[in-house]
Amino acid sequence: MVLYLVNIRAVLKRAIPLSATCSHSRSTCSTPAETRGISPNLEFSPDCDEATRQMLEKDFQVYKDFISAEEENNLLEELEVKFKRSRYQYDHWDDAIHGYRETEKPTWNQVNDCVINRLRAFAFSTTTMQHVHVLDLAENGHIKPHLDSIKFCGPTISGISLLTASVMRLIHIQRPQVLVTALLPRRSLYIMKDFARYEFNHEILNNSESFFRGEKVTKTRRISVICRSPPPPSS
Ligand code: OGA
Ligand code: MN
Repeated sequence: MVLYLVNIRAVLKRAIPLSATCSHSRSTCSTPAETRGISPNLEFSPDCDEATRQMLEKDFQVYKDFISAEEENNLLEELEVKFKRSRYQYDHWDDAIHGYRETEKPTWNQVNDCVINRLRAFAFSTTTMQHVHVLDLAENGHIKPHLDSIKFCGPTISGISLLTASVMRLIHIQRPQVLVTALLPRRSLYIMKDFARYEFNHEILNNSESFFRGEKVTKTRRISVICRSPPPPSS
């Protein structure tokens, strides 16, 4: 099943090949000006103290309109071919993801490659794994709270959301009353690293729970295009 996840209940079920790393060019496609600057897309629970809030604001960021509608269409066109013959999986009660299909994509067409390289240059100060993880969540799908495997994935995770807005929730592992809700608009980019990546479980809420600042956020089918930094070399 899932590539990089460690569910709270289930341990990783399938070994993940360590993909080759990719050092990206910083010169391809410039980042649109409006994506610079952090959007106020985080909502903190009352139990979230100021220090935690500040660390989270540093280590979990959402950038609106990271890609244009045209770039979204180009990505979808290439991805639909990839997903055409696979079915959504709803199988096991202990899977971290419900209602999904996924792929690992090592290469992209030229136009989309440019967008992927822009993501890499924008979100990562180091190399990223060569394979891009693409996760297609059905409208009734959701991702349960989990931590990405520390064995197979490094300190930074960054994804573009296609097709719909959704709500991601981060729950502090040691202090579960401390939680943060993040609105991920369609075509936005999120960067989750360090403190946010290691000290919190993250999840994508299903529609019955999907609220942000008291407003319902209806998630339709959602595709995320996710890059990860490689795990640190084991000593
Ligand atoms: C994952 C994950 C979030 C997303 O695949 O580990 O948390 O944006 N995905 O789809
Ligand atoms: Mn994850």
